[in-house]
Amino acid sequence: MRMYDIIMKKRNGGELSTEEINFFVDGYTKGVIPDYQASALMMAVYFQKMTERETLALTMAMAGSGDMLDLSEIQGTKVDKHSTGGVGDKTSLALAPMAAACGIPVAKMSGRGLGHTGGTIDKLESFPGFTTALTRGQFIENVNRIGIAIMGQTADLAPADKKLYALRDVTATVDNMSLIASSIMSKKLAAGADAIVLDVKTGSGAFMKEERDAKALAQEMVRIGKNAGRRTIAVISDMDQPLGYAVGNALEVKEAIETLQGRGPADFVELCLTLGSRMLLAGGKAETAQEAEEKLCKVIADGSALKKLAEFVEAQGGNGDAVYNTGLLPEAKIVCPIPAPVSGYINHIICDEVGICSLILGGGRETKENMIDLSVGLVLRKKVGDYVKAGEPLAMIHANDENKAEEAAKRYLKACSILDTPPVHTAFIKEIIT
Ligand code: URA
Repeated sequence: MRMYDIIMKKRNGGELSTEEINFFVDGYTKGVIPDYQASALMMAVYFQKMTERETLALTMAMAGSGDMLDLSEIQGTKVDKHSTGGVGDKTSLALAPMAAACGIPVAKMSGRGLGHTGGTIDKLESFPGFTTALTRGQFIENVNRIGIAIMGQTADLAPADKKLYALRDVTATVDNMSLIASSIMSKKLAAGADAIVLDVKTGSGAFMKEERDAKALAQEMVRIGKNAGRRTIAVISDMDQPLGYAVGNALEVKEAIETLQGRGPADFVELCLTLGSRMLLAGGKAETAQEAEEKLCKVIADGSALKKLAEFVEAQGGNGDAVYNTGLLPEAKIVCPIPAPVSGYINHIICDEVGICSLILGGGRETKENMIDLSVGLVLRKKVGDYVKAGEPLAMIHANDENKAEEAAKRYLKACSILDTPPVHTAFIKEIIT
């Protein structure tokens, strides 16, 4: 078999056999197939697409390219949750302790932010001392003892995806449905959970800008999960504006803590309850979605979810006191408003642009090696549909550099459109695919 023939077959619109896909994944993981041939194949896939069979074969090959975690030593049904990525998406920070407080063992693998999207691990590192460098033994012990452990993608877990994702990121081949579906699902399958709840984002801050594409991605991932014998559910949710109000690592941690204190933004709470209820149903902790939501609301009201967050942070080396005293989280030196230039209704906020504002402030990475400033970001004051008077703050900038604050403010103003009439209301949860 030759890589050249595989590239040409796909370039010409052919369907690759499972053997050809295995040959590519195996050779690329071992470093026998060079980046330039893998890039050419990714671009051919981008234009010619993959069939369902090819996508499944690619997923299984990448999942099996390294260790497959065996979580059988963890009691109960392990449920993993994964988001396709967005702006202000701090869901795991609130949802993992909520689900754990309801008795669901959360054994989760998370990622770092890249481009305009944030990552759970960066956010968690806002807790001084927090680490995801756990041994397999510690990971399992923590889940059994406190109900949550979160680790990063190690070099041994789906290494083919790790290499390919980095390559796709610099060759403009990320936003292809089969490549995203196989990338996410290969990691989820290798990470060993019994059930998977997917949060598929759609809108200007998501990889899938159009709802029909997000739906196709969700259906593809659910199909892959089921074929691999894992119970898989996907929720399609809005990412046409940032989730909640806070965008930026420590700022999002603070908003997640406020949510666990019962003071969360409406869209964020709705998402946590929708995803959380699916986790509880999948894990056998509730019979109906309503019963599940009631249980989730209860663990917020009685403080047990907040306590679970503190326990989890402590168990991974972080300062759990910061859960009760958010002044211990990193804070930016400059906090300044972005005043509205005119009065009117917020019509649209170009969501990925808000992610880029956070990036400009130093809150995200442009390359995998960049250091990030955990304290900076934006806190929106007005969201789509809200009325604002000229001069009132649209958002507050949290920065450590005046020039960067000015640049981010200018960019934010361009991303935010204000009109005389209110916009048409659209549903936040678009669909649930089972
Ligand atoms: N998240 C992933 O893990 N992979 C992708 O391809 C896109 C988002």
